Amino acid sequence: NKLGHISMPLLKWYDENRRILPWREKPTPYRVWVSEIMLQQTRVEAVKPYFERFMKELPDIEALAEAEEEILLKLWEGLGYYNRVRNLKKAAVQIQREYGGEMPDTYEELLTLTGIGNYTAGAIASIAFQRPVPAVDGNVLRVISRLTEDPRPVDEAKVKEGVERDLKEVIPRDRPGDFNQAMMEIGACVCIPNGVPLCGSCPLGEFCAAHRAGTEQDYPRRQAKKPR
Ligand code: ADE
Repeated sequence: NKLGHISMPLLKWYDENRRILPWREKPTPYRVWVSEIMLQQTRVEAVKPYFERFMKELPDIEALAEAEEEILLKLWEGLGYYNRVRNLKKAAVQIQREYGGEMPDTYEELLTLTGIGNYTAGAIASIAFQRPVPAVDGNVLRVISRLTEDPRPVDEAKVKEGVERDLKEVIPRDRPGDFNQAMMEIGACVCIPNGVPLCGSCPLGEFCAAHRAGTEQDYPRRQAKKPR
């Protein structure tokens, strides 16, 4: 598959360039889960102080399951998308009832929890439990779309499913969480969405079809808006 050679240079780059982030230092299942939910619609820099405070106030799944809504909303105030924290609590209650208070450790079980979709299940399973499953968000889709000069619109569900299948084949079995976070990091810091991507600093430059062709900024392609 077209992504066959990316994992070694990607992980080497990640070892040398990754940002030190609170949830990366001690990637327990609970910390990875809460951080991934916070990061869904919010930038890394904005998330940091919220994450630290949340962990201090609610250090484990049990504390989250028992927290009053009022406390939760205070801890989330300013992050927006408040259903995220309501769903966190619902899932914590589910984990207490159905899993004896321990975060389930497979992608499929994680998917059954309220508020955990395939991106988040992949992130937790790979980062906290070393399962070789992909975690494909918008950043990762953009990186892959450029690497392969994929002409298909990225906003089509089939395209994302194809990317997940391709990644699954190349995720290194010994470092799945680092591989996924390295892909996210390239998307956030190098293969950026607006303006000129920093291809000179990209460990994947030589594998990138768009970079070789000078077409970086033409990808990802999007579906033409329907006239109305
Ligand atoms: N965005 C989503 N998940 C992330 C992670 N684990 N590290 C940095 N940025 C992210």
